[in-house]
Amino acid sequence: MRIPLPLIRTSSGSHEGGRSALTCRFRCGDACFHEVPNTTANPYVGDVIAGALSRRSMMRAAAVVTVATAAGTAGAAAGAPSAQAAEAATYKPGKPGNPGKPGAGSGARGLRFQPVAPNTTDAVTVPEGYGQNVVIRWGEPILRGAPAFDPENQTAKAQAGQFGYNCDFLALLPSGERGRQLLVANHEYTDEVLMFRDYDADNPTREQVEIAWAAHGLAVVVVEEDRKTGKLTAVNRHHLNRRITATSEFRVTGPAAGSDLLKTSADPSGTKVLGTLNNCSGGTTPWGTTLHGEENFNQYFANGTRATDKRYGLPATGSERKWERFDKRFDVAQEPNEPHRFGYVVELDPHDPTSTPRKHSLLGRFKHEGATVRLTGDGRPVVYSGDDERFDYFYKFVGSKRMKKGSSRAVREYNMSLLDEGTLYVAKLTGDSPAIEIDGTGKLPSDGEFDGSGEWVPLVTATAKGAVSHVAGMTAEEVCVFTRLAGDKVGATKMDRPEDIEPNPRTGKVYVALTNNSRRGTAGNPGVDEANPRIGNKHGQILELTERWNRADATKFAWSLFLVAGDPNDPATYFAGFPKDKVSPISCPDNVAFDSYGNLWISTDGNQLGSHDGLFGVATRGPRRGELKQFLTVPTGAETCGPIIQDRRVLVAVQHPGEVDGADVANPASTWPDGPGTYVRPAVVSVWRKDGCNIGA
Ligand code: FEO
Ligand code: CA
Ligand code: CA
Ligand code: CA
Repeated sequence: MRIPLPLIRTSSGSHEGGRSALTCRFRCGDACFHEVPNTTANPYVGDVIAGALSRRSMMRAAAVVTVATAAGTAGAAAGAPSAQAAEAATYKPGKPGNPGKPGAGSGARGLRFQPVAPNTTDAVTVPEGYGQNVVIRWGEPILRGAPAFDPENQTAKAQAGQFGYNCDFLALLPSGERGRQLLVANHEYTDEVLMFRDYDADNPTREQVEIAWAAHGLAVVVVEEDRKTGKLTAVNRHHLNRRITATSEFRVTGPAAGSDLLKTSADPSGTKVLGTLNNCSGGTTPWGTTLHGEENFNQYFANGTRATDKRYGLPATGSERKWERFDKRFDVAQEPNEPHRFGYVVELDPHDPTSTPRKHSLLGRFKHEGATVRLTGDGRPVVYSGDDERFDYFYKFVGSKRMKKGSSRAVREYNMSLLDEGTLYVAKLTGDSPAIEIDGTGKLPSDGEFDGSGEWVPLVTATAKGAVSHVAGMTAEEVCVFTRLAGDKVGATKMDRPEDIEPNPRTGKVYVALTNNSRRGTAGNPGVDEANPRIGNKHGQILELTERWNRADATKFAWSLFLVAGDPNDPATYFAGFPKDKVSPISCPDNVAFDSYGNLWISTDGNQLGSHDGLFGVATRGPRRGELKQFLTVPTGAETCGPIIQDRRVLVAVQHPGEVDGADVANPASTWPDGPGTYVRPAVVSVWRKDGCNIGA
């Protein structure tokens, strides 16, 4: 929902994906206005149907899936039409709510709450019977010596000790202290017109730029649990609290470490990078660290005309924030390799405030939405990551070293090397229905499902002895720095903006959020295919992968579309076969998470149905598979991010509240969370049940 306000500069033209012009400008550098960076002629799903994978090999992949299901999962098979029909037939509609029992409602276990209706309220709206509190806001002091938030007199020094701007990914880890957890947050980007009164975008001051550097990055904050509710409060000035910013030191690991492609005049070693930028989503590792995706890093660099970086969309002239005026490393004409040092998955050990975070080049360089990890049966890490750009790819990394147990410094150091040896793969998908049946309207093909098989195509393998490229014409370090080009060369499948990816801890199936792609099937762009079946896809879809996830050598998978998002009254939507009159409308799925019951939770970015963004829960198995219910909505202009579903609380990051075309400090579109007369502030919110019971139980 875009709220028109008078005056002020806005970018012209229509914005895609339901976001305001302001969000596009600051978050991704107006990526949607630019040409699609993937202009390669890779085959897409429809093209390869009669090609590389024959019907026989697809049946083999399906057989593999059946084995995996029998061996390790208790849930429904991958949505066979007959199973879906049976589920629909046995479905007993629940009462819309149970007014006598606040907090209760019908639904799958973990999803028994009364759904929140779509709305445009400037607040976090939660189900009846639930409470909420702001855990921490932009600018709250977290380090010793940091001053209280004073937005009219903000300084870079103050910001470096305070919670950063635009919180996105969230992790909660054990803190080692009773009743306390360690909260780790990404600070994806800054929105200067909402941070600074009378901001002059053409002439930012050095102090404003340095405040922005300090407001980017990561935060570690100890949080305390309220014993009666799920409420969390920040513990300021705890010794574990930490800020990582756009100027903190990182060490590059993997095949690109020390490469000529990463050397700059400030760092002739090619291993020491200052800062992390545009950290969107992320993941928590089984060894107790956190991963953070560097997403739209391209927008921070000016004068980016180097041919090799054309696939990454570096601005040809000045950057939006003009950082190049204050540090020449942001000027590609002067430091051509500096952009090669961003676009990675970074790893942080939040338990050691003195540790140097890493940039893992073996996980590839692209617009990483996030990175989620699980272990194979023999203890090796598997990492999934999406490249959030229209017509780009999604990836999997399989490590060759086994995780060690323990928390000594030596064990932690060893485990932080797990992502430096192994193989990076990119996904290639094939549909199983005739291409003519994928007509672009979202109508299901005659076999009743958008589904098929896929393979993980290897790009690069690294061992202790060195790295080997699997891509003709590219060295291993080139694959790690220009990973999009490697994906192009092996014919990876062009997807509708791959966002967060998450394995279901209960069933092993993997869920890929594809947020939208307004260019799909339009003139001059790739057409529809079975995995991306709608022309001008406004609302996105969620892909479900079934693979032998507990085996490190699983390179085949089966897939189906679990959700095709939108208004359930729109015939082009699909909710895993669940009756569509029983589900909440959803648009633009972005971050995904699981609760302990194996329900999928989905946060949205850019609702195109007239409601604010929100958080939804949906059962992934059993008779209620596909029953999607809205749990909360966020304030005006905001995106819902970083969901964490613990038994007693739901945590969300309310990112870019008030980011509406024409808004600024003097003319705010939102005054959340503190009301009129205050600055709108991105913040983390905890939601819990007022009666102290578990969420949705
Ligand atoms: Fe930062 Fe892909 O959203
Ligand atoms: Ca099909
Ligand atoms: Ca997004
Ligand atoms: Ca996101």
